[in-house]
Amino acid sequence: MALPLIFLVLLSAASVAVGEIRYSEIRSDDRSIIPFDEFGFTHRGQLELNVTQLSLSGPAPDPSTLSKVGFFLCTRDAWIHVLQQIEDSEINCALGSDAVQKVFTFDHLPNPTTSEFNFLYPETDANQYTLVFANCLPQLKVSMNVRSAMYNLEGGKSNRRDYLSIGKTVLPRVYFLLSLIYFVLAAVWINILYKKRLTVFRIHFFMLAVVLLKTLNLLCEAEDKSYIKRTGSAHGWDVLFYIFSFLKGITLFSLIVLIGTGWSFLKPYLQDKEKKVLMIVIPLQVVANIAQVVIDETGPYGQDWVTWKQVFLLVDVVCCCAVLFPIVWSIKNLREAARTDGKAAVNLMKLTLFRQYYIVVICYIYFTRVVVYALETITSYKYLWTSIVAGELATLAFYVFTGYKFKPEAHNPYFAIDDDEEEAAAEQLKLEDEFEL
Ligand SMILES: *[C@@H]1O[C@H](CO)[C@@H](O)[C@H](O)[C@H]1NC(C)=O
Repeated sequence: MALPLIFLVLLSAASVAVGEIRYSEIRSDDRSIIPFDEFGFTHRGQLELNVTQLSLSGPAPDPSTLSKVGFFLCTRDAWIHVLQQIEDSEINCALGSDAVQKVFTFDHLPNPTTSEFNFLYPETDANQYTLVFANCLPQLKVSMNVRSAMYNLEGGKSNRRDYLSIGKTVLPRVYFLLSLIYFVLAAVWINILYKKRLTVFRIHFFMLAVVLLKTLNLLCEAEDKSYIKRTGSAHGWDVLFYIFSFLKGITLFSLIVLIGTGWSFLKPYLQDKEKKVLMIVIPLQVVANIAQVVIDETGPYGQDWVTWKQVFLLVDVVCCCAVLFPIVWSIKNLREAARTDGKAAVNLMKLTLFRQYYIVVICYIYFTRVVVYALETITSYKYLWTSIVAGELATLAFYVFTGYKFKPEAHNPYFAIDDDEEEAAAEQLKLEDEFEL
């Protein structure tokens, strides 16, 4: 399995442009570079900076040297160029490079005792930029509160602000559409449960709950993103979104484990080791969700962002591996049963089903973790949403597969336990064989 590879790739996961109004507090900081936020601008972009409680400490700097302290915007490529220039000693300060766009340098402060200023910077060159603060005076310590807002002005006369990065601005619509699709899926599933109510197992209601939670999760995400798009802040919708994400995460992983163990249709109870898997996966999902909240709320340059990102990835990888075990155990049990209890045909079909399920779970995990990450890295900042859509479509395919293969059905040989059904299964296998010939 390629799990070590997944792990490596995930650990180096890149930051994504969020684009919200951010509030940052800088206290007696002498870092020469402080990155703030990343954003994809159209050619009608704007950056709004509001700095309050500004104070500079250290040996009183000569006002003219303050041109080496200030904010600038920089693309990733330009940043590599700047680092090269600094290494070659062509420049000694990122603000001295002509590859960066200077937004505001402190020599433009009205007077040295100014404690607050506002600044509006129009960005007409469409690209993805990072807002960075540079302080190239080694002994100077800076304290300030920064409110930074980056947005694009929408076309037309309205001049409305769009706080979502250009690559994410379609996301509210995408999430809304997806939630509609899941809503339809849920309706279809309820219809199936009603029609086949005599052969419904508890696991089928569990599946319904998972689909409903996914619907609500997407709906909240759509509303959350559209609120951010309009106002630049999340305002409560994010809380609902996190709650449903959390419930969805727990139920989805539990569902994979329960189906993997064959709970409720192969056997009504869970074995101890299977319960243990659930007892590992559920608390880990709690941790993963806390990490996700911190990651989203602090942004890529927040202080513990990298740590939490790693926690999240580690926990996610452990969960993904853990859910595979019950399926492997089931496959092993079925293989043994096929040899011993004489119901070879039924067991063979169940075995095929579980093998398929195992492969599909692996594909699902691999696609939503690795392929989506790869897409995110190679696609241009303008099309960041495509990787999200790809991941969601893979998830949708996984839900549909699971529902289709494990749907309630009279005489479904997969759920069969008695002799009549063994005959039915043998019959069906024979038919399938003839069909293939
Ligand atoms: C921030 O700065 C902008 C640009 O100068 C200004 O229009 C806006 O009112 C300021 N906002 C606050 C909260 O001070």
